[in-house]
Amino acid sequence: MRFEHFEQLDSTQDYVKALTVQGDNGPLWVRADKQELGRGRLGRPWVSKSGNLYTSGLYPWNSPLALKPLASFVTALALAETLDRYIEPTDIRLKWPNDVLVQGAKIAGILLEGGDNWLIIGIGLNLEHHPDDLAYPATHLLAHIAEDKLNKAEPFYAGPAPILAELAQNISKKLQALQNEGFAQFREDWLRRANRQGETIQVRLGNEIISGIFEALSENGALQLRLANGSLREIVAGDVLL
Ligand code: BTN
Repeated sequence: MRFEHFEQLDSTQDYVKALTVQGDNGPLWVRADKQELGRGRLGRPWVSKSGNLYTSGLYPWNSPLALKPLASFVTALALAETLDRYIEPTDIRLKWPNDVLVQGAKIAGILLEGGDNWLIIGIGLNLEHHPDDLAYPATHLLAHIAEDKLNKAEPFYAGPAPILAELAQNISKKLQALQNEGFAQFREDWLRRANRQGETIQVRLGNEIISGIFEALSENGALQLRLANGSLREIVAGDVLL
């Protein structure tokens, strides 16, 4: 696996995407200290000031296309496992389709993009700060680590680079397992950490907001919502409101 690091890029995602045009399919992880034009899901900007992790992983993909979108759940699980070392694991929850929350506030986002035979996994993980003008609650890692742990002689938290090294290894392993063994185990693992399962949630679908009980995750990664009329609605694309 290759790693590239830049002090600054417009967007690690766009940098890696440009490589695919030249026939590069990875595996490669590109990290930037800061981004000028960081992109989030649904065309939103991802404010990318120095101190946090901004990275995009490129992997070859020769497995069934239906499995590809499920890589985002696998990535969210890997992020949660990395954070387990620093934060009380029960405080870390996963929000459909691919956000990581700590005490109900978003700490990381994932942007998945795929071409014919490649997959790009973009990750923004708030480590040292988070934007305070967002439409949803957000948080960052250092806000959840006790001072005495940070001040020990041996560094407890050593910045974005070692976090990416661990994350990249875990994601590679999980992507292999997804392609070899399928989604079933990951679906179970994801649901075990899911935020607000069994509760009434609101989901935005374009201009419409629908409400229902978050029942489960389908085998293809759809959100299963029990509506007031008793029917089960499967949502494949949308935004769960926090
Ligand atoms: C989201 O909207 O939740 C996804 C955010 C993804 C941001 C990351 S930061 C590294 C990579 N480069 C980008 O421009 N976006 C992704």
